[in-house]
Amino acid sequence: MTNQDSLVIAGGKKLTGTIHVRGAKNAVTKEMVAAMLSPEPSILHNVPDIADVGVVSEMIKLHGGTVTQLGDGSIQIESGDLKVANPIQLHEIAGTSRIPILFAGPLLHRLKKAELPMLGGCDIGPRPVDFHLKALQAMGAEITQNEKSIELTTTGLKGTKIELDYPSVGATEQVLLSSVLAEGVTEISNAAIEPEIIDLICVLQKMGAIISVDTDRVITIIGVTQLHGYEHTVLTDRIEVGSWACAAAATDGKIMVEGAQQEPMMTFLNTFRKVGGEFTITDAGIEFWRARPLTSITLETDVHPGFMTDWQQPFVVLLTQAEGSSTVHETVYEDRFGFAETLGAMGAKIQLYQECLGGNHCRYDNRNYLHSAIISGPTKLHGAEITVPDLRAGFSYIVAALVAEGETTIHGMKTVERGYEKFEDKLRAIGTEIISK
Ligand code: EPU
Repeated sequence: MTNQDSLVIAGGKKLTGTIHVRGAKNAVTKEMVAAMLSPEPSILHNVPDIADVGVVSEMIKLHGGTVTQLGDGSIQIESGDLKVANPIQLHEIAGTSRIPILFAGPLLHRLKKAELPMLGGCDIGPRPVDFHLKALQAMGAEITQNEKSIELTTTGLKGTKIELDYPSVGATEQVLLSSVLAEGVTEISNAAIEPEIIDLICVLQKMGAIISVDTDRVITIIGVTQLHGYEHTVLTDRIEVGSWACAAAATDGKIMVEGAQQEPMMTFLNTFRKVGGEFTITDAGIEFWRARPLTSITLETDVHPGFMTDWQQPFVVLLTQAEGSSTVHETVYEDRFGFAETLGAMGAKIQLYQECLGGNHCRYDNRNYLHSAIISGPTKLHGAEITVPDLRAGFSYIVAALVAEGETTIHGMKTVERGYEKFEDKLRAIGTEIISK
């Protein structure tokens, strides 16, 4: 980095080489919280060196636990003696992170009480926690809220039937973490079934939980009275894998992503191939490149097994290099095209719409949210001075900078460090010219 928070990239080169992707941010952070369900120590392997892991470690420490680095991407989490943390201090550490609310289950089981910061919105929308609180209440938590914090108490959580209004990842995780030690049976219908959730369920099963994932988004949890520590290797970060794949095809290069796994990537791989990308899958990982001139597509983001919202931003950059008009309909978040304006300043042609384009209607139809985009391509991108608004937009700016002719200065790289491990080293490994000024 040129200074702590900026990166200057000289773009316009075909990128070739091998990089290694480790565990998924959105699994490891929840699995760290799951460790707090047991007073016994737990060990996680394949943990990426990203800021968000540090943030969750600090939150665990505020609750009286410890997180010890064992080297080579392994950590040990201990929470023998838990205590209620100060929500103001938690907020200072957590910022806009969604993780604090997931401490509710472990704390309610172990201490019968939790005090958590009120979560605000962020650059991708208001991101409420109403599903979480409704589920916790249904399970027997008393909740008091003020502007800054949420206080939860219980005499004992009890299993119940919970139907989610939307298959929310966080709310499904909330119910899982709260129900494994609850009395009786909990049934979640309309549950999210993202690979990271299945990985969390594997962790909970290792701890002694009884959880079945049935057809039609139904997850059933039979409560047990105690859980043990676990040892687990986190599944690979499929968001990061998709981001590097987009970089390979967008620059007409070839990138081998070690650690990439096929099954969680299936939807991405199909979409990637439809626009002209190609890949080889081996035991070591997946190699990505551009097989033919890129062509346009009509695409919709969705909950798993759909095309995930976090692949959308780097994929939009890829589509700026595709022949024709592509339509992208974002159905998970109402406000995830904020980055399009900046791409426009770099030469991309992206028009945003409030309507649901591409065929299906979603809950944001005609509600003043610019949640559909038409990307016309191919367009030459040129260097610019830009600032990262959120994590996934941040990496898509890196991909845009790699494609662009000339130099791009990207400010706000600290945000990217939250979720992408050693990205500067990886960029260099595939031949990126990073300019130090
Ligand atoms: N929602 C509600 N009420 C709730 C919870 C969610 O209305 O109580 C809405 C949200 O506002 C959103 C939709 O439901 O419109 C989906 O949200 P979800 O709960 O599924 O998302 P999340 O758990 O907050 C996780 C990831 C996100 C990822 C989404 C979707 C983590 C820490 N975050 O968020 O990842 O985009 O699932 O897959 O796991 C990222 O990594 O940069 C990131 C934003």
